[in-house]
Amino acid sequence: MHRQNHVSRRALLAILGALSIGAGCSRGESEADSAAPKPASGTEPAGKKPKKLSEIVVGFSQTGAESSWRIAHSKSIQEEAEKRGVQLLFADGQNVHNNQVNAVNGFITKGVDVIVIAPQESVGWKPTLKEAKRAGIPVVLTSRGVDAEEDLYATVMVADFVWEGRQAGEWLAKQTNGKARIIELVGTPAADVAVMRKAGFAEAIAKHPDMKVIASQSGDFTRTKGKAVMETLLSAHKGEINAVYAHNDDMALGAIQAIQAAGLKPGQDIVVVSVDAVKPAFEAMVEGKLNATVECNPLHGPLLFDTIEKIVRGEAVPKRTVVPGQVFEREQAASTIGSRAY
Ligand code: AHR
Repeated sequence: MHRQNHVSRRALLAILGALSIGAGCSRGESEADSAAPKPASGTEPAGKKPKKLSEIVVGFSQTGAESSWRIAHSKSIQEEAEKRGVQLLFADGQNVHNNQVNAVNGFITKGVDVIVIAPQESVGWKPTLKEAKRAGIPVVLTSRGVDAEEDLYATVMVADFVWEGRQAGEWLAKQTNGKARIIELVGTPAADVAVMRKAGFAEAIAKHPDMKVIASQSGDFTRTKGKAVMETLLSAHKGEINAVYAHNDDMALGAIQAIQAAGLKPGQDIVVVSVDAVKPAFEAMVEGKLNATVECNPLHGPLLFDTIEKIVRGEAVPKRTVVPGQVFEREQAASTIGSRAY
């Protein structure tokens, strides 16, 4: 029997609770969003002249380069830093949580002005965030959240991951008339994004008794692992599957390769839906191999540096900003691919 990677219910509740996102919230309606802006932690004490953006040093701990999304996210932040004359110290965590913790501890020792974290895992950050707070360095979270008290960071900018999973589930229900035997390719299990995309999807398909997840396993958000996991699951469930839900486009693209290698037609014999809406996903949709993708916009650079500018000036920033997205189907792909920025 194959191994299934489940995120435990306890972990899900802990992460959803910490991020104030209920599975029932729709996009942009979470409690944290509607709350009045709270002052950022670690802002300049009154009386001290705030620095200009061109005078500050920002330490950025990035997850790694596991996906096309991540590469676009790094590029957007690096380009924006350069445009605004900000000195950015970039640390590639290579998808290892401890690398990221060590990088952030290094930024604290150096005494950077602001720390930006795109956390690979959502747990295990509290001691480091407490250290940053003690040192008076504001922390901005981007791309994923952490399981920690809100006063330990200034702000978080993420997509509504539950909404994304729900959109994928509802789209698949419509496409298959509520009859689907599904392989789910899960992202990194300790990341809030994987827990929430799983939860949103499960909530949507629960309304359809003939939609079942036959196997759910992590492909760690990479194309290589998505392909390998799909190969294993396809041979374990020969002839049983008619749909794939991948938590990101890269895993979907890997799965598409595995489906073709098994002599089947992705997009026809097996319906494929994923999340991100990166250019390679549009190419696969134009070729008819991917059916739909839910957009998760990685271009956080401009918003990130607008926010950092406010923080260094001592202005209040919202605790959480939701980056909006939309669903793209393969029928729209040819006409929209030219305008995709990532
Ligand atoms: O945190 C955002 C997710 O991480 C993206 O959907 C995925 O592609 C990336 O690896």
